[in-house]
Amino acid sequence: MTLSTTYALDNDQRGAGISLAWLAQILDPHTMRILEPRLEPGARVLELGAGTGSIARKVADIVIHEPAAAAGDHGDRSVLHAGPRGLVVATDLKPIHVQPTHPGVRVEKHDLRSQPVAGIGGGPWDLIHARCLLAHLGRRDQLVAELAAVLAPGGYLVIEDWGGVGAGVVLRAPTGETEVLYSAYQQALRSYLQVHGNDGTWILRAYRLMVEAGLEAEVLTGATSWVGGQAGCRLPIELSKQIEDQLIEHGIALDDLRTLRTHLVNPDVTVMGNLTWSFVGRRPIAAG
Ligand SMILES: C[S@@+](CC[C@H](N)C(=O)[O-])C[C@H]1O[C@@H](n2cnc3c(N)ncnc32)[C@H](O)[C@@H]1O
Repeated sequence: MTLSTTYALDNDQRGAGISLAWLAQILDPHTMRILEPRLEPGARVLELGAGTGSIARKVADIVIHEPAAAAGDHGDRSVLHAGPRGLVVATDLKPIHVQPTHPGVRVEKHDLRSQPVAGIGGGPWDLIHARCLLAHLGRRDQLVAELAAVLAPGGYLVIEDWGGVGAGVVLRAPTGETEVLYSAYQQALRSYLQVHGNDGTWILRAYRLMVEAGLEAEVLTGATSWVGGQAGCRLPIELSKQIEDQLIEHGIALDDLRTLRTHLVNPDVTVMGNLTWSFVGRRPIAAG
């Protein structure tokens, strides 16, 4: 098997923006349940591999506020809004799908494979978030320590990736054909991603790497069922168009992909969504 370090789901591919939008719709509620309690106004946040920028916008709504008005101008409000203004930097290898955004979000092109994280201006960070990204990157293990090193004392590193559990499992369908086709799609996808350096086993190392990087770590997981036609089933429909030729090269027939797409819009079909692993590491305040 010849391995490539090229990112498998290039944002230049036709339909990539649509797939990213479904991904955000599927995962943002889970992610925000984790991020929101760890954010406060004035925090400095780095969003890596931002995709559509949906998380950067939601985070900016929490952390960015106008600087304090002159004392006495607004009574209690000036007390509430005292302190730093907050910052959100959204980076991506190809930030072309980052939507018009909160005015306080800075968008930057940055390649995590070759450019140091310390070179992104604005740190040390109160929170760094990377979702569905590190599993794709060959430097994933080293990156955990590099990211931990640019956290402020008390700052959080939140890394989220999909594990295999759930992927390909059909919970309900009118015929057994859905399971055969969905499983064939998942196999072709995994094979294609692997050739491009995606490591499905990395989630089993991420917790240990966080601890070794000096962080207080915990793991949270989440998965939901996806009904035909809803966002969870729309993602494989769109992704299978985005990388159709590649999936065919990796073993699934075009007719099978087309039939699978018709099954995934059927409300009588329910599949089990991918299990999201969310690794939360906190730099101890005493680390200085
Ligand atoms: C699967 S998408 C996930 C997008 C977003 N984090 C989300 O979960 O909605 C991965 C994103 O990481 C970006 N990416 C891939 N390789 C990268 C790299 N080497 N450096 C920075 N970003 C990268 C891609 O361009 C893409 O936008």
